[in-house]
Amino acid sequence: MTAENLIVKKRDKQKLNENEIRFLVNGFISGEVTDYQMAALLMAIYFNGMTFEETCLLTQTMIESGERVNLDHLNQFPIDKHSTGGVGDKVSIVLAPLVATADVAVPMMSGRGLGHSGGTLDKLEAIPGFRTDLSLKEFVSLLEKNAVAMIGQTHEIVPADQKIYALRDSTGTVPSIPLIVASILSKKIAEGAKALVLDVKTGKGAFFREYNQSLELAKAIITTADKFNVKTSALMTAMDQPLGFAVGNWLETREAILALQGQGPKDLIEITLALGAEMLIQAGVSYDHGEAHKTLTDSLSNGRALEKFIRIVELQGGDVSVVEDPDRYPRSRHHLSIRSNRTGFVHSIDALKIGLLSRDLGAGRRRMSDDIDYSAGIVLQKKQGDQVEKGESLAQIYYSSNLESETIKEKFFEAVEILSTPNQIKPLILKHLSRHDSGDWDEN
Ligand code: URA
Repeated sequence: MTAENLIVKKRDKQKLNENEIRFLVNGFISGEVTDYQMAALLMAIYFNGMTFEETCLLTQTMIESGERVNLDHLNQFPIDKHSTGGVGDKVSIVLAPLVATADVAVPMMSGRGLGHSGGTLDKLEAIPGFRTDLSLKEFVSLLEKNAVAMIGQTHEIVPADQKIYALRDSTGTVPSIPLIVASILSKKIAEGAKALVLDVKTGKGAFFREYNQSLELAKAIITTADKFNVKTSALMTAMDQPLGFAVGNWLETREAILALQGQGPKDLIEITLALGAEMLIQAGVSYDHGEAHKTLTDSLSNGRALEKFIRIVELQGGDVSVVEDPDRYPRSRHHLSIRSNRTGFVHSIDALKIGLLSRDLGAGRRRMSDDIDYSAGIVLQKKQGDQVEKGESLAQIYYSSNLESETIKEKFFEAVEILSTPNQIKPLILKHLSRHDSGDWDEN
């Protein structure tokens, strides 16, 4: 068997078997399969796809490339959430502590932001001292103490994914459904989650803009997860405008803290409660959505969710004082208020363009190695459908770089459209998707 023969096989639309997939993945880790051979294979997979069986084998091989956490000894059922990412998506920061107040465990392993899209790790690390680079031993110990831990991918977990993802990122092979499925699921399974709830976003600021592609991804993850006995369901949610008002690391963490105090923006709370309720049902601690919603809203209003978050921050080395008093946080050097140039209704706020503006302000990265400015970003004051008067404030912009204010305004107005008549607001949660034991889809 040679890498070259197997690349040719995939190029010619043939199926790879278990030994061949193992040979390629393990050979890539050991260096026997070169970067250029793996890049060619990834491109062949990008164009020709993988069968369900191949995707499962790839997932299994990737899991086996590192350690697998066993959480059987926990008193609570371990369940995680995965979002396909977007702009202003600070859901995990609210959801993880919130759900962990309801007698389930949340072993959460998140990622960093890249391009227009933010990452939970960066938002958490905006809290001075907050450590996300914990060892697996520390991860398990936190789960035992506090039922929740929020960390980054360690080198112990799925090293094959780290190496393959870096190559995908620089070879245009990220948007391949089988590669995404194996990448996401290998990490979730290796971290010890026994069930999973997906937030699959669709629209302008989403990984896949097209609804049908997003749905295909959700179905592929659910079907593959089933094979590994990780019960998974998904919410398909709209990502046309940013979620909540804040975009940028500390600004989003501050908004998440407000949400944990029961004062979060309506859209953020709607998605958080829907995903949280789904998690409680999957974990078997709630019987229906009504009961689960009540458990979660009680936790937001009685302070338990915030208390849980403060404990996470404390245990992971973060400065609790900025959580308790967000106004203590260091401010960016510049602050710009953007005012509307006309009277009307906010017709659209392009999530992709706002995400890119936030990145340009210093909040995001062009390359994974770039530094980020935690205090930079945008706080919207109007959302889609809101009425606005000429001269009224639309957003506050925070940055420390030398960007010209005129350039910022220009980019902002490329993202925001104001028309004289109101438009129909689309629902935020587009679909709930799960699979019966029979294999039939439940879509509502
Ligand atoms: N997130 C991941 O972890 N992997 C992918 O392939 C895409 C998004």
